[in-house]
Amino acid sequence: MKFCILAALVSLVSACTYQGKTYKNGESWISQNAFKIKCTVESNGSWKTDVVACLTPKGQKEVPVNAGPVSEGQSDFECVKNENGQVVLKESRGRLADCINGKKQGETWMDKSFKFRCDEGGQTKFIACVTADGHEIPASGSAMINGFEVECRQHTNGTISMGASSKMKELDCKTESGKIKKQGEEWVDKAFVHKCGEYGQTKVVGCRPSNYEGTIELNQNATQGELTHICVKDGNSYSFKTVQTKA
Ligand SMILES: *[C@@H]1O[C@H](CO)[C@@H](O)[C@H](O)[C@H]1NC(C)=O
Ligand SMILES: *[C@@H]1O[C@H](CO)[C@@H](O)[C@H](O)[C@H]1NC(C)=O
Ligand SMILES: *[C@@H]1O[C@H](CO)[C@@H](O)[C@H](O)[C@H]1NC(C)=O
Repeated sequence: MKFCILAALVSLVSACTYQGKTYKNGESWISQNAFKIKCTVESNGSWKTDVVACLTPKGQKEVPVNAGPVSEGQSDFECVKNENGQVVLKESRGRLADCINGKKQGETWMDKSFKFRCDEGGQTKFIACVTADGHEIPASGSAMINGFEVECRQHTNGTISMGASSKMKELDCKTESGKIKKQGEEWVDKAFVHKCGEYGQTKVVGCRPSNYEGTIELNQNATQGELTHICVKDGNSYSFKTVQTKA
């Protein structure tokens, strides 16, 4: 009997009481499927209960108080104790989350001429431009494609674009016989008037038969005495002929 009383006393001073249950020093338990609580008994006999971890809603994974986040599914969870001693579980988009278009992390996809990848936190990252013939140019980089420097740009306003390098705009043109022409310069080759445009690209702008003054514009006819000159552009092909017109 004496022993029994002593035992009861000891248990009384060395236990926590929580919602009608008693717990030993160091013991922990789960409350409301949301918190892990631990009993601490001081040497002077006073005791306290502390939340030591939160539990994730689905997997009931432990998230230690005020420690790094724990991932579950698409979310990251943090268990935060504020100044008032309140403990709350905070949820944020997880490091392992999918991207909003449903792609998994590490997956890449194309949208028009642009290539994207799903990165950590479900962030969509623009990684490259892809030319029609399959050349990849890294974002904010450039590459020589068929003799042209092409840039893959990411503007500060968020838009992305692919195009000839602005350096190339000033390029000279080369005639069929290998002569160099400056931008804006015109020359005649086999009755066709050529003009050097931007990016070193030569365009046919009209026709000029020998002993004819000026340029006959594309898809125009010009009469010269009894002759009619016919200058035609059809798609990407050009033709020129002169016919005799009966007066
Ligand atoms: C017992 O000890 C704890 C920590 O050492 C202290 O916070 C508490 O006030 C003490 N309680 C009593 C009743 O002395
Ligand atoms: C974004 O900036 C680029 C380059 O400065 C510009 O060409 C483009 O029109 C801008 N787009 C929008 C939507 O403002
Ligand atoms: C030019 O001449 C051809 C042949 O006579 C004719 O078919 C064509 O319609 C003419 N084009 C113009 C623009 O007058």
